[in-house]
Amino acid sequence: MKDLSVLLVDDEPLMRLSMLDALEAVGCDVHAVPTGAEGIQAIEKKTFDLVITDLRLPGADGLTVLKTAKEKAAHTEVLVITAHGSVETAVGAMKLGAFDYITKPFQMDELLLIVERISGVIALRRENQELKHQLEDKFCFNGILGANSQMRAVLDKIKLVAETDSTVLIVGESGTGKELVANALHQNSARREYPLIKVSCAALPETLLEAELFGHEKGAFTGALRQRRGRFEMANRGTLFLDEIGEISPVVQVKLLRVLQERVFERLGSNQPIETDVRLVCATQKDLRKEVAQGRFREDLFYRLNVVPIIVPPLRQRQEDILVIAGHVLETCSQKLNKQLRGFSQPARELLLRYSYPGNVRELQNLVERAVALGRDHAMVQPTDLCGFQSCPYTGGVSQEACGFCSEGLSGSTKKKDQTMTSLAAAREGFEKDYIVSVLERVEGSRTTASRILGLSRKALWEKCKRYGIPSAYHDDQGEGE
Ligand SMILES: Nc1ncnc2c1ncn2[C@@H]1O[C@H](COP(=O)(O)OP(=O)(O)OP(=O)(O)O)[C@@H](O)[C@H]1O
Ligand SMILES: [Mg+2]
Repeated sequence: MKDLSVLLVDDEPLMRLSMLDALEAVGCDVHAVPTGAEGIQAIEKKTFDLVITDLRLPGADGLTVLKTAKEKAAHTEVLVITAHGSVETAVGAMKLGAFDYITKPFQMDELLLIVERISGVIALRRENQELKHQLEDKFCFNGILGANSQMRAVLDKIKLVAETDSTVLIVGESGTGKELVANALHQNSARREYPLIKVSCAALPETLLEAELFGHEKGAFTGALRQRRGRFEMANRGTLFLDEIGEISPVVQVKLLRVLQERVFERLGSNQPIETDVRLVCATQKDLRKEVAQGRFREDLFYRLNVVPIIVPPLRQRQEDILVIAGHVLETCSQKLNKQLRGFSQPARELLLRYSYPGNVRELQNLVERAVALGRDHAMVQPTDLCGFQSCPYTGGVSQEACGFCSEGLSGSTKKKDQTMTSLAAAREGFEKDYIVSVLERVEGSRTTASRILGLSRKALWEKCKRYGIPSAYHDDQGEGE
């Protein structure tokens, strides 16, 4: 009980003093006040481990003190003191989150016994948190969580190459954490005091991308009203992160190759060569070798970019990471929303583990955030909290409404096994298209909202719409970029 910070609220001076003495004698750090209003003031100033409050008080009553304490910090435990014969109020207090109640008159020993029990629970919770953090430190590098061996290898590679100036090509599906890898490379390099500049190559048409990368002189093209520095100049001495590098046009490919070979470039509309000292990190969802084979990407540029490849595996290939990441998101969100969720129920864990996450970590993150925000269980996340639709047949509902989980459940139960195996890719694509359309319809075409629900970036959603030929009426709210 040593160092337990306790707020004591009781209007009877003798009781207050006896309790204060008894608690201080066992090492508690006690702040004692006579009224509910003063109790609330104290809570607003400081977060206590334990609040002991009489229920009947002058000014604000004990229930208000209890509510204020729980609202301020859900982990503050509250012990209420009730008058003999008012058990109903005590039960009400328990429903509001009180740990226990004690009925007047009581012996100090009786009080100390309960406080000891509470102190044990608090110590256990701290220990758990400590262990969790230790575990997280072990599996975490610059915000990248990874327990899976492939991910450990990725993290080791980042540590190894961060300090060099080698060009890195990060390859992975949408939402796998490519941008996090780029950040980690920069943060662990000697260039970290200088800028990390990011450009999404898919978001801009050819001329704009050229101007964005290399800058332009006044009047270099229609609309170039003044001189502008490009990203290569801005990133000087730092790192330039070119996202979606597979999307750049042949013209930009040539220009990029020249910068990589000669370390010089010119602004659009100028002949003045500018030297550059940047470390280039690129990312792509595409298989660039295939793009090279099909003549869409220059082979010489590919070799210049692929000096150190880092392949980030999709989440479905690293099951060990699912619960580590889900647990981390749960804890962060739970704290942010001042909820006291302890974890996922066993069936919820099983559900998380068997899902395939087409939107990878981003989708898992959104799934858990939504579950924490909307879930009704106060202690554990349940399967029904994980599904976007309240009546998902897979998580326990009755409707035929489809969500990620339902589609997994239905494809397993409604199709013959051999058919599923031969046409899984086609089935997945068919489902994906229908599902995207249905989400876009529900959110009245808002791509921002739809991408959040689907766990995809806006860009990835736009690309999927393009691929599946989904009419732009469904998704033309905010242009094509990120
Ligand atoms: N290993 C990980 N640990 C913790 N969080 C992760 C991890 N991987 C990804 N995330 C989180 O998932 C989200 C998506 O990651 P990120 O933006 O880096 O993916 P991406 O591969 O760049 O996606 P896209 O191709 O769509 O741009 C981010 O919020 C990121 O913080
Ligand atoms: Mg990205």
